[in-house]
Amino acid sequence: MSAIRANEPREQWRTSSWRTRPAEQQPNWPDAEDLKDAEATLAGLPPLVIASEARRLTSALAQVSRGEAFVLQAGDCAESFREFSADCIRDKLKVILQMAVTLTYAAGVPVVKVGRIAGQFAKPRTSPVERIDAVELEAFRGHMVNDEAFDPVARRPDASRLVAAYHQAAATLNLLRAFTKGGFADLSLVHRWNQQFVASSNQGRRYEQIAGEIDRALRFMAACGIDLAAEESLHETDFWTGHEALILEYEEALTRQDSLTGDWVDTSAHFLWIGERTRQLGGAHVEFCSGVINPIGVKLGPSTTPDEVLALCAVLDPERTPGRLTLITRIGTGRVADVLPPLIETVRDAGHPVVWVCDPMHGNTFTSENGRKTRRFGDIVEELREWFGVHRAMGSWPGGVHVELTGDDVTECLGGAEAIGEDDLGQRYTTMCDPRLNARQSLDLAFDVAELLRS
Ligand code: TRP
Ligand code: MN
Repeated sequence: MSAIRANEPREQWRTSSWRTRPAEQQPNWPDAEDLKDAEATLAGLPPLVIASEARRLTSALAQVSRGEAFVLQAGDCAESFREFSADCIRDKLKVILQMAVTLTYAAGVPVVKVGRIAGQFAKPRTSPVERIDAVELEAFRGHMVNDEAFDPVARRPDASRLVAAYHQAAATLNLLRAFTKGGFADLSLVHRWNQQFVASSNQGRRYEQIAGEIDRALRFMAACGIDLAAEESLHETDFWTGHEALILEYEEALTRQDSLTGDWVDTSAHFLWIGERTRQLGGAHVEFCSGVINPIGVKLGPSTTPDEVLALCAVLDPERTPGRLTLITRIGTGRVADVLPPLIETVRDAGHPVVWVCDPMHGNTFTSENGRKTRRFGDIVEELREWFGVHRAMGSWPGGVHVELTGDDVTECLGGAEAIGEDDLGQRYTTMCDPRLNARQSLDLAFDVAELLRS
């Protein structure tokens, strides 16, 4: 890992300056011409998001950095090219809205909602290849790159998938904008976000109670003479998109200069994060993200040192801009109290107004005895508990959570109120990558987080 010091003169940033740096986790594109064609096509397509939206999200996250709001980042581990029906998107949005409204109501803080959606198509992998018996193929890297079928043709990186990813992101974002601005997210509809299979559970009933209280609060305000119809904020919500900025050809091709200010914006999503495996200081991903004005996240694993975080803050947030940088820790249960305090202290001493977010899932992944990648609901809640405890003890603001979930009734994570066991995992295990919370487990988690926020 080649370190760059903060005060070392850096060559000028350009949308392509990442190309002179080592880039981890990149596919072996077999056809350079295909890749060039895809990049040229993307460069000619309209932006998915615009500069003023990225700035508004930065302001919302600045509120979080000051301890005045909470951020909820949630969605699939990896989005699929095959599963993006309207129902699929709607059900995912329903769970996220349920979680957000639960947190808003029960903890009394505004919630900034960021989906892992409309662009979350690329995955870093532990090994660049996968071997089954005597056959070795390129690893599955997400539908933006190849297909998960264990077959030489399916696994061949195909650059036309970059363009397909853009079109699916555009269609997904369009529906999300319609839902969240067109009436579906109206607070008078809180009951409708409770899906059938959720409503019949304990968590579902607990949610119904909150929904009933919200109804009552709205009726109370109306009775007091407040014109609810005129209050826009009751009828719609801001829903932001985010994904891991992994395949830099895609990100570069969608990066545009704001004609008003000259700022560079990665228009593929509002929020972008750098993964634990690609956050090398001299690396391509940090270089790319340092030059765009989008709010940036960095995932930090259990071996992260204070010096690394300090150097990342210096490169990614040199102006100390509130809301610019979100540090997402994914440490693993049992280690948070050791790893997190020195990081918080170092960042605070250096004066970076970061947002701290807890990803309680990626540090708690293991393979069950029947060979399925899974996570225990109890471990997830426990990491959150430890993480909130550290922030409370240090006087820093526990700014948010980052989770992998689906609106479907899957059996991928163990435990929760339905007590999913290892033998149940096979029933409805549909993730292409990491195990996700199902809608009931997600809601359950929101209740726990609301309680941790309140206490
Ligand atoms: N506009 C407010 C917000 O986004 C209130 C709100 C409207 C809301 N619809 C919502 C909150 C759905 C959570 C979920 O916070
Ligand atoms: Mn994941």
